[in-house]
Amino acid sequence: MSFDVQKIRQDFPILQRKVNGYPLVYFDNAATSQKPQVVIDSIVDYYSNYNANIHRGVHSLSQEATDVYELAREKIKQHFNAKHNHEIIFTSGTTHSINIVASGYSEILQKGDEVIVSAMEHHSNIVPWQMLCEKTGAVLKVIPMNEEGNLLVSDYDTILSSATKLVFVNHVSNALGTINPIKEIIEKAHQYGAKVLIDGAQACSHILPDFQDLDVDFYVASAHKMCGPTGVGFLYGKSELLNILPPYQGGGEMIKEVTFKKTTYAELPHKFEAGTPNISGGIAFGVALDYLSAIGIDAINSYENELLNYATEKLLEIEGLKIYGTGKEKTAVISFNIEGIHPYDIGTIVDKLGVAVRTGHHCAQPIMEFYKIPGTVRASFAFYNTKKEIDIFIEAIKKAKMMLS
Ligand code: ALA
Repeated sequence: MSFDVQKIRQDFPILQRKVNGYPLVYFDNAATSQKPQVVIDSIVDYYSNYNANIHRGVHSLSQEATDVYELAREKIKQHFNAKHNHEIIFTSGTTHSINIVASGYSEILQKGDEVIVSAMEHHSNIVPWQMLCEKTGAVLKVIPMNEEGNLLVSDYDTILSSATKLVFVNHVSNALGTINPIKEIIEKAHQYGAKVLIDGAQACSHILPDFQDLDVDFYVASAHKMCGPTGVGFLYGKSELLNILPPYQGGGEMIKEVTFKKTTYAELPHKFEAGTPNISGGIAFGVALDYLSAIGIDAINSYENELLNYATEKLLEIEGLKIYGTGKEKTAVISFNIEGIHPYDIGTIVDKLGVAVRTGHHCAQPIMEFYKIPGTVRASFAFYNTKKEIDIFIEAIKKAKMMLS
């Protein structure tokens, strides 16, 4: 399929609307992507035609819903090349997925063990590990970053040791767009027998990770950044690791047998799927992956790179504007500030002109501390954005600068 952005835009009903009297220019895709009609339709279809609880009833409707939900699990497995369907655990999103692993390891790690995070993590890939360290007495170490927003892998080499048990790094930084060298990070950790969790929340709509090729131990992501609905995501884990982790929540569906003396737990994936899940969300996630695959992640990636280069060039023409995250390997995210102007003020003015960007610390305060700034304006592009929208955005930024200087 050739890349036809105008045709693609017709798949997204929200792109037709106006905001504050102007056509919407949606550049907050790193916070959540917009949804194509097929994804919206799949949710309506579930509730209109086969709404029933899954894995529970012998009746036809329940079996139908179960089959379509399990097909979505199969699609996720295929898309990311996991080995087994049961290695894909449906969760409410990346944060939930990380907490399952952190909470499980808090019963396994011991005082003096070490865990490593990177300097450019989202809070959701920092706080659960700090909580784990508080519970176990494990020590948290940090891979530092440089001014360009790249991780210092040589420093990683020096903090890795036989005491390292776990390493957590995002595939792509939400605040800077940096693509991290995760294959190298995983290989190095494995030399010390440490396990690695990759937070792929910002990566999977731009890059296609191959779980078996990466030999990654855990990989987590959310559907809503991949054109799917909110409230659903997955935890991928190698079977042997998921099997040794204790369940995260107790409840229905995650048990084999319950007596008042002792309860035994269900096999994977159900051991980690207590309670009624987001059934329509899981199904719609599968539809979203089909949609992205039909366009092609490579085609998406190269088109978004064009947008990134175009916007970077135009932004740098604005005097006093500084971009944070200037590494070579980036997704289509631009974090920036204009000298003397608060990012929040820029965000507020461009919104009045129909342009949606995120402002603030982007749930990555350590990055802001590194640069000694309160936050940034972040424009993040998707494959349904256009150069014409970038022109509108640039004019809006110039206007904001004029008003605020
Ligand atoms: N983590 C999301 C972002 O970066 C919400 O905006």
